[in-house]
This record gives sequence, structure tokens and C-alpha cells, in this order.
Amino acid sequence: MRKTMLPVVLAGLALASPAWAQGARTAAGEGDLAVFKKACSGCHKWHGGGGGGYGGDALSLRKTQLDKEQIAEVVRCGRPGTGMPYHLRGAYDSVKCYDSLKADMAGNMPPETAVFLRPAEIDAVATYVATQLKGKGDPTFEECTAFFGTTSRACDVYRKKEGSDAPTVSH
Ligand code: HEC
Repeated sequence: MRKTMLPVVLAGLALASPAWAQGARTAAGEGDLAVFKKACSGCHKWHGGGGGGYGGDALSLRKTQLDKEQIAEVVRCGRPGTGMPYHLRGAYDSVKCYDSLKADMAGNMPPETAVFLRPAEIDAVATYVATQLKGKGDPTFEECTAFFGTTSRACDVYRKKEGSDAPTVSH
């Protein structure tokens, strides 16, 4: 039996700008950079390397040990007790997460996302993290232009610093 989910539907409208979709290209099997861009890069940064800032200390997805399914679960359900939000509409409500509903979570609920994702988008972004970010070293100029497009100045710093330590740019 499903409850009506209208209030959470409205919360998902916060980020409706189509600008993120531009320049985000991924081939079949590589997951979906566009979803990563709209829902994850604000905290984990464009390169997934994470860092401090909005939402707390987002872990590096380049250094994660999680497999694709585990990544998808963290995206669906968030991580209780941390700043990692849940992205599945109805999580802890009509859908159990970590075998729990809201009432079981006491004060430990993870935050709710500003950008709810459909199950197919969650699968696609988990694939993107597992195949395009996990295990990668320092961010490269090529990765940067795949994210921002070739005309963006945002990647100049990577062109100059290619081969050295990852620079810290905040985007
Ligand atoms: C509001 C900020 C925020 C957003 C948005 C966000 N994350 Fe996170 N994420 C975090 C924080 C903070 C952590 C660290 C949690 C912890 O300390 O265990 C985290 C942890 C994770 C982890 C666990 C990594 C590991 O190795 O344990 C994964 C996977 C992850 N995020 C993926 C994503 C993906 C994919 C998206 C987009 C769908 C996303 N996150 C959106 C803040 C965010």
C-alpha cells in the first residue's frame, strides 16, 4: 500500500535549470554525467574528489571502496548521521532504507536531497561513479572539459598543472 507523496514531490522542483545538461556527455556503459552534475557535484565537486563545504565533508568518490550497488544504496538512502542526503523519493517513508522507516531513525535521519532522482537515474549515476570516478587519480584536463565543455576557462588550471598535484578549485 502506497501513501501519497505530494509534499516530497514539491521539494524536488528546487533545481530545474537546464543549464547543467550542456556539455555533459557520456557514452553508453559509462553512466550519466548529467545526473552527477545536477545532483552530486555541488558537494563532491566536479571531479568527485569531494572536500569540505556545503553539506559537510563529502568523501572522495575517486577513492571510494564501494561497488556500484553499494554506491546506489548510499545515493538512494543517504548516509545516516552524515551530510550525505537521500535521493530516492519516499525513502524511509514508502520505501525502507537500511531496513528502517523514519520512525525507526530517531534523530539520525540523513538530510533530504534538493534533487530527487528516479531509480533509473540513481542506477546511471552509480554507474558513472563506479566506472568514471572510482580508482582514478588526480583530475585531468580531459575530464574537466568533459564536464565543463571545451570553451570554459574553468579548466585552464588543469591544462597548466597537468601532471602535478590536484589543484583545489571550487565549482
Ligand atoms: C549535500 C551534500 C552532498 C550531496 C548533494 C551528495 N553527497 Fe555524497 N556525500 C556527502 C557527504 C558529506 C558524504 C560523507 C558521508 C560520511 O562521512 O560517511 C558523502 C558520501 C558519499 C558516498 C560514500 C563514499 C564512501 O566511500 O563511503 C557516496 C558513494 C556518495 N556520497 C555519492 C554521492 C552521489 C553519487 C551523489 C549524487 C547523486 C551525492 N553523493 C550527493 C555529501 C553529499
